[in-house]
Amino acid sequence: MDKIRIRGGRPLSGDIVIGGAKNAGLPLMAAGLLTDERLVLTNVPLLADIHTMAQLIAQHGVAVEPVTNDGRALSIGGAITNTEAPYDIVRKMRASVLVLGPLVARVGEARVSLPGGCAIGTRPIDLHLKGLQQMGAVIQLDGGYVNATAPQGLKGATIVLAMPSVGATENLLMAASLADGRTVIANAAQEPEITDLCDCLVAMGARIDGIGTDKLTIDGVRSLHGATHSIIPDRIETGTYACAAAITGGSVRLRGGRLDHLGAVVKVLHEAGVDVSEDGGDLIVRRLNGLHGADAMTAPFPGFPTDMQAQLMALMSVAEGAAMITETIFENRFMHVPELNRLGARINVHGASAIVRGVPQLSGAPVMATDLRASVSLVLAGLAAKGETVVNRVYHLDRGYEAVEQKLAACGADIERLPG
Ligand code: UD1
Repeated sequence: MDKIRIRGGRPLSGDIVIGGAKNAGLPLMAAGLLTDERLVLTNVPLLADIHTMAQLIAQHGVAVEPVTNDGRALSIGGAITNTEAPYDIVRKMRASVLVLGPLVARVGEARVSLPGGCAIGTRPIDLHLKGLQQMGAVIQLDGGYVNATAPQGLKGATIVLAMPSVGATENLLMAASLADGRTVIANAAQEPEITDLCDCLVAMGARIDGIGTDKLTIDGVRSLHGATHSIIPDRIETGTYACAAAITGGSVRLRGGRLDHLGAVVKVLHEAGVDVSEDGGDLIVRRLNGLHGADAMTAPFPGFPTDMQAQLMALMSVAEGAAMITETIFENRFMHVPELNRLGARINVHGASAIVRGVPQLSGAPVMATDLRASVSLVLAGLAAKGETVVNRVYHLDRGYEAVEQKLAACGADIERLPG
C-alpha cells in the first residue's frame, strides 16, 4: 500500500487547480441511468471513487466512455440490462446506493447491496428507502440487499425528510424526475452538489422548482434526454488547500475555487487569522500573522461542512489558544484525533466535541489514515510538523484527492509518494 512522506516546515506558495467535485460527480453519473441518450459530464476529477462509480454503471449495462483523452469528460448512456448493484462494489463506496432511485424510476426494479456502516458511523439509508416507499416502491430487505420494485412506475408524493440527508435528497430527486405526478421533498439538503444535480436534471428535461432551497418540487416527466454538464469545483478540496496554506503560513491561489460554496469555512478561517479573497475566478488564501483558535460546529449546508472538520482540527492544533470543534452529523468522526495527538497535538474529545489546545509546533511521526478526510488532515499536520511524517494507507486519500502530492509539491512542499 502506498504511503506519503512529508518533511514539514515549508510555507506553501503558488497556484493549485481545483478539480471537479467528487460529491457532485458521483450522483451526476448515477443520473446518467435516467436516460437512454448520452449524458456528457465535463470537469470530471480523476479519482478512485469516480472510477468505482463508472464500474458500477457499466455493470448495469450502460456504457461509460471517455470523450477526451485526459478522461476529464465522460459520456454515459445506453439501455439498462442488469439492475443489481453488488456488495463488492457497494462496500467500496457508499455512494453506490445512489443508483437505487434512478434504477427503480427508469426500469421499475433494483437490487442494491446495503452499504453497511463505515469508519465514521453507522450511516443508515432508511430515509432513501422510506421516500421511495412513499412514491409507491415495494421494498424488501433480503440477504443484505435492498430489493425495490415498482412495476406500475413511481408516483409523486410529499416527502418530509426527518433530516436533510444529502444522499436521500439526491436519490429521491432523481426518482421523482421520472415519477408520475408531483413530488415535494421538504427539509431537503441544500448542499451545492444538490443544486448541481438539479441543474443537470433540468438540462435533461426535468421540471424542478425551489432549486437551492430546502423544499424541492418536482413534476415528473415521461422521459429525460441527453445533455452536457460541467461538474462544479470541489468545495472540500478548495477548503482543504486553504487550510494547507494557512497551516504552513503561506499563500496560495486556488484556481476555480468558489467563495459562495465556502461561506461557513471562510468565516472560521477569518476568525483564525486567515485571509480568503476572490480574484477573478480564483480564491487567494494567505495567513495574516499568527493563527488564533476559532470554534466550529458542523451542520448541513450552509453550515460548516463535516467534510472539513478534520482539516480544521489539524489547523487549530497549531493555533494560539483553544478551539472547540463539535461534530453533529456523524457520531464517530474523530478518528484523526489520536493520530494528530501522535504528532504532538493536544486534543481531548468529550462526546461530540473536541477541545483543541494549540501547540507551538507539531513533530513528525508515522501515522495511519482511517478515512478520506482524516487522511488529508494528517497530510496537513505533516506539512506543519518538524521532521518527517509518513502517512500510511493512502488509498483513502486517493478516493477523493487527485494528485495531492503533486499539487502540494508544486507549491514548495517537501512531499512524495512511496509506492508500497
Ligand atoms: C454525503 C457526502 C459526504 C458528507 C455527507 C454530509 C457524498 C457522496 N457524500 O454523504 O461526503 O460527509 O453527505 O455532508 O456526497 N442519515 C440517516 N438516514 C438516511 C440517510 C442519512 O439517518 O437514510 C444520517 C446519516 O447517518 C448522517 C446524516 O444523516 O448522520 C447525514 O448523512 P447524509 O447527508 O445522508 O450523508 P451522505 O449522503 O451519506
